[in-house]
Amino acid sequence: MANMKIIKVKDFEELSMEATKIVGGLLKEKPQATLGLATGISPVGLYKNLVKMYQNKEISFKDVKTYNLDEYCELPKSHPESYYSFMYRNLFSHVDIKDENVHIPSSEGSDLQKNCDDYNNLLHKAEIDLQILGIGGNGHIGFNEPGTPFNQETFVVKLTDRTRNDNKVFFNSLDEVPQYAITMGIDNIMKAKKIVMLIAGKSKAQAVKRLLSGEITTDFPASILHKHPDVVVIFDEEAAELVNDKY
Ligand code: GLP
Repeated sequence: MANMKIIKVKDFEELSMEATKIVGGLLKEKPQATLGLATGISPVGLYKNLVKMYQNKEISFKDVKTYNLDEYCELPKSHPESYYSFMYRNLFSHVDIKDENVHIPSSEGSDLQKNCDDYNNLLHKAEIDLQILGIGGNGHIGFNEPGTPFNQETFVVKLTDRTRNDNKVFFNSLDEVPQYAITMGIDNIMKAKKIVMLIAGKSKAQAVKRLLSGEITTDFPASILHKHPDVVVIFDEEAAELVNDKY
């Protein structure tokens, strides 16, 4: 775990502050930075803080480029729970980012493999300075579910029952949760220069324990991060419940 920097904080607010220091700091230092972005609950406080920094004129997004990790299939972009809608609602609509600098995998149209290839080609040309990541309860990163090979690039993934159940809270019923998604592969994620992983809440305690065990296995996709040279993992007290004696 030599390269994994661990920051343990009290709660979600502190977690968001720590992440903001890193991301906001990068944007001050490098206003034309390329960010890899995540959806889910974990980065919402970070995005709120970045909007505040923009409003206070501390940072600008006018030269920032972004690449999102993933997008649900079976939902149009306009659906409130598409990751496209999520990103505009939580960040992009509130800052001066240019639409042409925003990249989110598209699950529209009839040729999803082509969509994957197109996104993958964009990723090959990009250089992500900083990738924000959450973690699924089963260790998924992006939507790379357990069993995904570590050399996987952008692909269409069938979501596991566990992931669909975890994400049910955003929908009216389990039936409405998409079965498939397009996600950057693990290989794409690992190419980022720096990775910041945000983990909050009791439901992630088992995942934190397994991540910090140090064992690297495709059964637990996030474990590959131990092989990345620059990773910061920020977790709160609830997520640290099972490792509190060590951190
Ligand atoms: C989702 C997303 C991931 C996210 C993870 C954790 O399914 N595809 O990119 O990091 O699950 O989500 P949350 O932050 O809501 O716990």
